[in-house]
Amino acid sequence: AAIVEHVFNVENVTVRKLCHDHVITAVNGALPGPTIQVTEGDTLVVHVFNKSPYNVTIHWHGVFQLLSSWADGPSYITQCPIPPGGNYTYNFTITTQEGTLWWHAHVSFLRATVYGALIILPKSGHYPFPTPYEEFPIILGEWWNANVIDLQTQAQALGTGPNNSDAFTINGRPGDLYPCSKNCTYKLNAVHGQTYMLRLINAALNNQLFFKIANHKFTVVAVDASYTNPYVTDVAVLAPGQTVDVLLTTDQTPGAYYMLARPYVSAQNAPPPDNTTTTGILIYDELPYTSPIMPLLPALNDTPTAHTFSSSLTSLVGSPNWRPVPTQLDEQLLWTVGLSVAPCGPPNACTGVPNIPTLRLSASINNASFQFPTSLSILQAHFFNVTGIYTADLPDQPPLKFDYTNPANSNNSALAFAFKSTRVKQVKYNATVEIVFQDTTIIGAENHPMHLHGYNFHVVGQGFGNFDPVNDPKKYNLVNPVIRNTIGVPVGGWATIRFQANNPGAWILHCHLDAHLTMGLATVIVVDNGPTPSSTLPPPPPDLPQC
Ligand code: C2O
Repeated sequence: AAIVEHVFNVENVTVRKLCHDHVITAVNGALPGPTIQVTEGDTLVVHVFNKSPYNVTIHWHGVFQLLSSWADGPSYITQCPIPPGGNYTYNFTITTQEGTLWWHAHVSFLRATVYGALIILPKSGHYPFPTPYEEFPIILGEWWNANVIDLQTQAQALGTGPNNSDAFTINGRPGDLYPCSKNCTYKLNAVHGQTYMLRLINAALNNQLFFKIANHKFTVVAVDASYTNPYVTDVAVLAPGQTVDVLLTTDQTPGAYYMLARPYVSAQNAPPPDNTTTTGILIYDELPYTSPIMPLLPALNDTPTAHTFSSSLTSLVGSPNWRPVPTQLDEQLLWTVGLSVAPCGPPNACTGVPNIPTLRLSASINNASFQFPTSLSILQAHFFNVTGIYTADLPDQPPLKFDYTNPANSNNSALAFAFKSTRVKQVKYNATVEIVFQDTTIIGAENHPMHLHGYNFHVVGQGFGNFDPVNDPKKYNLVNPVIRNTIGVPVGGWATIRFQANNPGAWILHCHLDAHLTMGLATVIVVDNGPTPSSTLPPPPPDLPQC
């Protein structure tokens, strides 16, 4: 195993997009930032120098961080942010996982421009499928002409969601359909008759995306750095945070073909927040072309297509790092996830703007809207036994009875008032945990992509309507459920995950729509140390940033 070392200079740079110059915060001046490539078993050492005017942290999305919770990166959860002028070295070993992950800033909305691919190659030297001719990361993103920190501050002050982005992007580029973007459209040069692997990453802040290439089919072989049974489809669907590895065979008439990504909006009757589309071009044999062939994308609200994609994936039993589903459960949790409202004014003031509204949007788990601490991270408070930072009293069951298919039938105004608190769930080392996420759909059009740090999990079931505790578990897949780190909980539906808490630390579990994370759709799973040194979190590195 090797030590792979990188330097990340986080700094403001000027880039030209959509006909104008913009100042953005980026790593080493690039958008996307550097692709990191390691082999399973390697130790990754990244020296982050914050030369930007903002607080910064970097999170290694999907990396288990076994006994290295201090390197996980979410601000105020495992560390205080790196202040302007400060630095921190993330040092961790990548074990028992391989595939496509990514890294991104984990503070404010900064990940809009601070992100990149993290590729873990198999230590065996080969995949459980024929070796592709070549591999390419395809990172889908979202671009704002406005400063993203201002955008977040303003949305919070108003108690609303942020404005729509101004473009979607493929590898940082908006593509042909946006103004002044044609010349820098992302182009993938391929030769005829080969099989390529595309490592798709949804780095967008607030949108699920459909991805398609004209006239071509994909074979999905992995999601979230976990191998799947080969699944053939002509469209991939990714929620923010998710990755999908697909094989693409260049078996069509040599020419040029558009690849497209655009939003998927889950709720049938919700107006599309944005119907713009980003493009790239697949070019065979460097042939000259005039107009590439355009694919048809599903309708913006094509839930059947999206649901078929996400519910058809299964894990590849016996592939590297595969493991069986826990069946003896120590913790069985039913957590509601959703948007509602809360009153403005102390202790939930919507501040800083004239005409203060009386209600703000609030997002919650079991009616607790997560408030990030400010004086110490949760992990430091846990490790050093500091009280007053969080309480370990997040309810295991919803506090109120509720009909999720028809909120009007529920005698339940309290669910619509989710107040802020820093409530976490504490579990014993090695506990087997099941969480049923039930979407509450009071407001909102999107699936909630729930992401757990420090682990991946089996998705044993998902469906629409109210979770039925008697009949739905009978339909669980306990044989080869897909293994992911981010699951889109359907609007007006539910999803059940299972994992074994074999990694001590503080692990944020949150909606990967940044708009919802900001509104409080998060909690933390604090996992105690085990009985031996190999199950005990070591003390923090000396350069851990302080608040
Ligand atoms: Cu990709 Cu907590 O994040």
